[in-house]
Amino acid sequence: PSAENLLSKRVQEMVVNGEQPPHLYICRDDGDEADHQDVAASQLASIPIIDLGVVSESTTNKHVDELNKLHSALSSWGCFQAIGHGISSAFLDSIRQVAKEFFEQPMESKTKYAKGVDEVQGYGADPVPEEGQPLDWSDRLFLDVYPLHKRQPRFWPQTPTSFRYILEEYTVKMKTFTEVVSKAMAKSLKLEEDCFLDQFGERAELQARFNYYSCCERPDLVLGLKPHADGTGYTIILQDDVQSLQVSKDGHWFTVPTISNALLVLLGDQMEIMTNGIYKSPLHRVLSNSKKERLSLVMSYSPESNKEIGPEERLINEETPRVYRNVKNYGATHMEHYQRGQRALRSIRV
Ligand code: SIN
Ligand code: FE2
Repeated sequence: PSAENLLSKRVQEMVVNGEQPPHLYICRDDGDEADHQDVAASQLASIPIIDLGVVSESTTNKHVDELNKLHSALSSWGCFQAIGHGISSAFLDSIRQVAKEFFEQPMESKTKYAKGVDEVQGYGADPVPEEGQPLDWSDRLFLDVYPLHKRQPRFWPQTPTSFRYILEEYTVKMKTFTEVVSKAMAKSLKLEEDCFLDQFGERAELQARFNYYSCCERPDLVLGLKPHADGTGYTIILQDDVQSLQVSKDGHWFTVPTISNALLVLLGDQMEIMTNGIYKSPLHRVLSNSKKERLSLVMSYSPESNKEIGPEERLINEETPRVYRNVKNYGATHMEHYQRGQRALRSIRV
């Protein structure tokens, strides 16, 4: 079957029908022994945990240490686990729960929200990648959530009944979260605290992606999501308790620990650009699991469309010259490269 035909069918359906992964899902491993896709055998990533409550308080000097820790996390791993964000565990559980209920419904209930071939939003799979690129062993529901005019309500599930309401609440919380995090990142680089928020713009975009990773009998053959760096400003990931997400550091894959009340903040290419390469947009991937399905909610935070972004002037000097050119609509550049399995960031180096 062609990639188009395969992608019209959900991975979840194939698993329920007991089908083996079709050829186009198989990742041809280049025979790199060290790169075995076995989560049990891989090392846990020691990604710093940052307390955003401490970062924002200025009565003690603790916030200075926390900002230094943030600097070190983003310049080495390109990600950190955020706690102290003020979102209750009960609320995080409720959004995990509605996401799970959505995917566990019968297929007919989900295909009401199916995306069309040329659409991005909706339930389905990513667009067909270029030849030679494997398909991902996962299904997703993709929704633009902010600014409001980008919402397409026909893709917003009506079952479970609280889905819409909870996603709206989460979006409001994510707006606040991104303000806190963008300011913290600026302060960690000794920049004026609003500088990144100004680059993102008032109508910075939030996109929600609910990922459902079905089990696979042959987790050694497929990936839940192939290796990539995000084209976002940064990405906020809510995981469940299944450890399958990996980040790459110094050429090795490390498994990201799951922490139930933490949000993983992963830097995207556009923040790497704005920080003139000081902070890193890491490669990451999701392994497949033979026993447990996995759910994640990925919130992408990107500058408003048509807004030019570039390295902060104060980070450019004789010792550290400009690394990246200014860009507009980087998302489109990123997508073209992603489809070919390439890194877009290279194309805008000076
Ligand atoms: C992603 O790269 O967007 C996937 C992250 C995840 O599912 O944990
Ligand atoms: Fe990603």
